[in-house]
Amino acid sequence: MNDRGPDLTRAAALDLDAIRAQFPILAESIHGKRLAYLDNAATTQKPEAVLAALDDYYRHANANVHRAVHELAARATSRFESARDHIGAFFNTSREQIVFTRGTTESINLVARSYLQPLLQPGDEVLVTGMEHHSNIVPWQLVGAKTVAAPVLDDGSLDLKAWKAMLNPRTRLVAVVQVSNSLGTINPIAEMIAEAKARGIPVLIDGAQAIAHTKVDLSVLGADFYCCSAHKAYGPTGFGVLWARREHLEAMLPWQGGGDMIRTVSFDKSTWNEVPYKFEAGTPDISGAIGFAAALGWIDQLGLARIAAHEHELLAYGTEALKGVDGLRLIGTAANKAGILSFVLDQAHPHDVGAILDQEGVAVRTGHHCTMPLMERFGVSATVRASLAVYNSHDDIDQLAAALRKASRLLR
Ligand code: ALA
Repeated sequence: MNDRGPDLTRAAALDLDAIRAQFPILAESIHGKRLAYLDNAATTQKPEAVLAALDDYYRHANANVHRAVHELAARATSRFESARDHIGAFFNTSREQIVFTRGTTESINLVARSYLQPLLQPGDEVLVTGMEHHSNIVPWQLVGAKTVAAPVLDDGSLDLKAWKAMLNPRTRLVAVVQVSNSLGTINPIAEMIAEAKARGIPVLIDGAQAIAHTKVDLSVLGADFYCCSAHKAYGPTGFGVLWARREHLEAMLPWQGGGDMIRTVSFDKSTWNEVPYKFEAGTPDISGAIGFAAALGWIDQLGLARIAAHEHELLAYGTEALKGVDGLRLIGTAANKAGILSFVLDQAHPHDVGAILDQEGVAVRTGHHCTMPLMERFGVSATVRASLAVYNSHDDIDQLAAALRKASRLLR
C-alpha cells in the first residue's frame, strides 16, 4: 500500500498457516468457538518473536538504562539503544530523531506542548481533516489552537480540493491521519505534504494505522513530525515513537522534567540533555523499545509489500462477503482504502451486534472509534468495525459473515 494502493507486482504469496502458528493467542477458544480476531486497528496480537524478546529481556537483562555500571545495566542499555537503531533503520532515519513515547497520542501531545504552543498567536489554526482520531484534535485544542477540519466525502475519502482551499496564512500546522482508523481511508499524504510545504506550513502525520501496512520512509516523506505506536504493529502496548525533523527537536523545549532529560541540574538553573533524550524524562519503557524493534524486524522479514497485498486481497473478499448480509451498510468505501470494514446493521445498535459476534468467536470493535466528528458526518453514533492484520484469513471473514447473518436475524 502507498498513496496509490499496494504494489501487487512485488508480492509473493504468504504462508498463512506458518504466520498464524507464530501467534499463540490465535489458538484460543472463545465461548467454545474458533477465534476470528478482527480488532487489529485497536491492537494487533503479538508473534513469538516479540514475546521471546520481552521474555529474554526480563530473564537476562533487566535493569535500568543509562545509569549504572554493572553488567545488567550495560545489557539493558545496550538492548534499549540498539532498539533505537533498529527502529530508526526501519523508518530510514537517524536514531537521534527517534523519540520514545507512550504511543501516538503522547507523541502528538508532545508536539502540541513543545512545538506548537510556544508559536501560537491568537487566531492560529491547525488544519486537520474530518476523519481524525480524537488524539489528533484534542491536543491542539488543549494548547489553545483552533482546529479546523477539511470535509470528508460520502465515500469516506478526503475532499482534497476543499482541504487545499482551507490552507491559509493562519494555518500554523497541518495535522493529518495517514490511514483512518474508523474507515480505512488512505489519505494522499505525499501530495498534502508537498502542498503544505509549498506554503511553508509544517505537517504532522498520524501514522498509527499505517506502519504495519505500508512502507514509511521518513527520509523521503517530507513531513515535519511522524507519530506511531508499537502495539498496532505487532509490538507491545504503551510504547511509541515521535519522529521529527532535527531542527525542530533542537529548537523545542522539553515538556516533562525528570531524570535522563537533563545535562546539569542546580537550584538556580538546569540544562538539557541532547536529542532525543531531552524528551525522555524518567525511567523509559525499556522492554517496550525492545519489543517494538523485534516487531519491526518481524514485519521486515515478511515484507510490507507482501503484507499489503494479502490484506488488500482480504479486504476485497470481505467487502464482497458483507454484501450478502441483509441490512448491512458499509461506511467508508473510498477507492484507496486499507483493511478496515466499518458498517451498521439496519437499526441494530452496534454494541448488540458486537455482543452477538463475540458469542460466535468474532472479535470486532464497536463504538465511535474515538472519531465522534466522523460519526456525526455519517449520521451514526457508532459503527461495527472489523479490521485486518496479516494473520487474518478467508476463514475469519467467513466466520464474521456467518455471525453477522445470525445477528441480522436475531436483531431484526
Ligand atoms: N485507536 C484505536 C482504535 O482505533 C484504539 O481502535
